[in-house]
Amino acid sequence: MVLEPAFMIGEIPVYGDSILAPMDGYSDQPFRGLARQLGSAMSYTEFVSALDVLNRLESILPRLVFEEAERPVAFQIYDDDPARILQAAETLMQYQPDILDVNMGCSSKSVANRGAGAGLLRTPDKVAAIIRQLSDEFDLPVTAKIRLGWDEDSLNYLEIAKSVQDNGGQLVAVHGRTKKQAYKGAASWPPIREIKEALRIPVIGNGDIRTIADKKRMLDETGCDAVMIGRGAVGNPWIFVGKDRPEVSPEEVLDTMLQHLQRMQDFYGPDEGLVLFRKHVTRYISLGPLSKGQRTRLLTCTTAETFTQFLDELIQEPVIFQNSGGF
Ligand SMILES: Cc1cc2nc3c(=O)[nH]c(=O)nc-3n(C[C@H](O)[C@H](O)[C@H](O)COP(=O)(O)O)c2cc1C
Repeated sequence: MVLEPAFMIGEIPVYGDSILAPMDGYSDQPFRGLARQLGSAMSYTEFVSALDVLNRLESILPRLVFEEAERPVAFQIYDDDPARILQAAETLMQYQPDILDVNMGCSSKSVANRGAGAGLLRTPDKVAAIIRQLSDEFDLPVTAKIRLGWDEDSLNYLEIAKSVQDNGGQLVAVHGRTKKQAYKGAASWPPIREIKEALRIPVIGNGDIRTIADKKRMLDETGCDAVMIGRGAVGNPWIFVGKDRPEVSPEEVLDTMLQHLQRMQDFYGPDEGLVLFRKHVTRYISLGPLSKGQRTRLLTCTTAETFTQFLDELIQEPVIFQNSGGF
């Protein structure tokens, strides 16, 4: 049987319509690898600043490491300066990404208020220059991840999305909120439909997908080519298998957690891997039913063995493994 791609990014086929969203501090290589193994259709790295690429590449390299099985892999970059993005992208080419994605959605003050991330939405000329220069310079697809606008009075998503396309961009991912909203309120999906109807290039919809029903609804209501899932996938990577959290047995939760932990220890080393995994533990399982002592014990384990042993004991209390996931 010949598998049909769900959509193409330039000449790159993408087989699947659910994708793990880039998330600083979460979508690192171990989590991306796990999500991809479970069915996420491609990988986006956590964003990297063009300045960091140019000035302290060594320290950000772990964010750009990927395994071959993750391909297609998009490196996500942010800055407000077209020339610096171009220069940083040149440096990044040695690591052979499949796609270059420009972040036009980050709402954090330190990024957006200096004109990068969602700050770019206020300077359409820069959006055009960045996408045009990258597309002209490199022989790989250039894409953008955008929001709806800076605030409710400047909803320029159609202008920005068309500019990405008209300047050679090959895909737009849309988070259905403004910069001002940050993560507050509900994501608005109708604009994603408007963008999809206006563009020839593929559109990925993003915002507030937490269940398989949400995913289907976004695909139906917007006609987007794929969905991107962020917070709803943390502690819940089975969303990429097509399973909602209540359908995942405690044994499966435990098994996947241990795979994730193993990946983190392989990547960061045994000690740092275990410490960094703690933020995922609190998403994989509900700590509420645990006593204070049990919680402390779980979050202060110093070896994978003691951690595994304790989780094996906890499996006797399935409620801990249910109704968790997401944030
Ligand atoms: C902790 C965190 C880190 C994020 N980091 C990035 C990032 O590096 N690049 C990016 O484009 N979006 C980033 N985002 C935004 C997500 O990709 C996504 O657009 C947003 O969370 C909405 O989708 P969701 O409702 O599925 O979470 C981040 C979001 C969160 C919660």
